[in-house]
Amino acid sequence: MGLWDVHSHLLPEIDDGYLDRAGCIRMLEIYRECGIDHIVATPHIYNPFVRTAVERIRSTFEWAKNEAEALGISLHLGSELYIADQGVLRAIPILDRFVLVEFSLALPPPNLKEQLRKLIDDGFVPIIAHVERYVWLDPKHALVHKLKEMGCLLQGNVEAVESGAALPYLEAELLDILATDNHGNERLPLSLVQTMEKWPFVKKRMEEIW
Ligand SMILES: [Fe+2]
Repeated sequence: MGLWDVHSHLLPEIDDGYLDRAGCIRMLEIYRECGIDHIVATPHIYNPFVRTAVERIRSTFEWAKNEAEALGISLHLGSELYIADQGVLRAIPILDRFVLVEFSLALPPPNLKEQLRKLIDDGFVPIIAHVERYVWLDPKHALVHKLKEMGCLLQGNVEAVESGAALPYLEAELLDILATDNHGNERLPLSLVQTMEKWPFVKKRMEEIW
């Protein structure tokens, strides 16, 4: 329970998040000021467009977890897995249960449902990151409903609510999760809290999930 941000790139100097260690601590303080008490660090993995220092994820996470704990925040480790046509899907599951996934924005992987099915058959719940970004996943399209029927959760970014891009998904009550996908923007924690207040059905779903 409590308030969660389940998609963030706050681990310093790990992927395309732009925080250093001091910036990370400052960001954690802002989350605390906003009343968010659980954050999941989800560095990109297998994303062909992002260089991630995979070998330093765990040690950097341990450092950040201690800093967060000192502020009364629980920091959890996950990843944002880029799914293409790779044979084996390796990810860091959130709470040993949820796997945050992303795809090419322009085209779905040719075996999209089979790839997601692999995760589900292994006992994981896929969370489709920033669902509003994919041009091939229109909210009116049957595929969205198929993915939800399979057991996938749909996550929207708070900035996309502000820009309007995520509104069709919210108005159709398709989203299960709102998150910041924070790469170092100090405005986003408060925006997450305010957006959740505006969309109570998402807040309720998140309380049920986390
Ligand atoms: Fe992300």
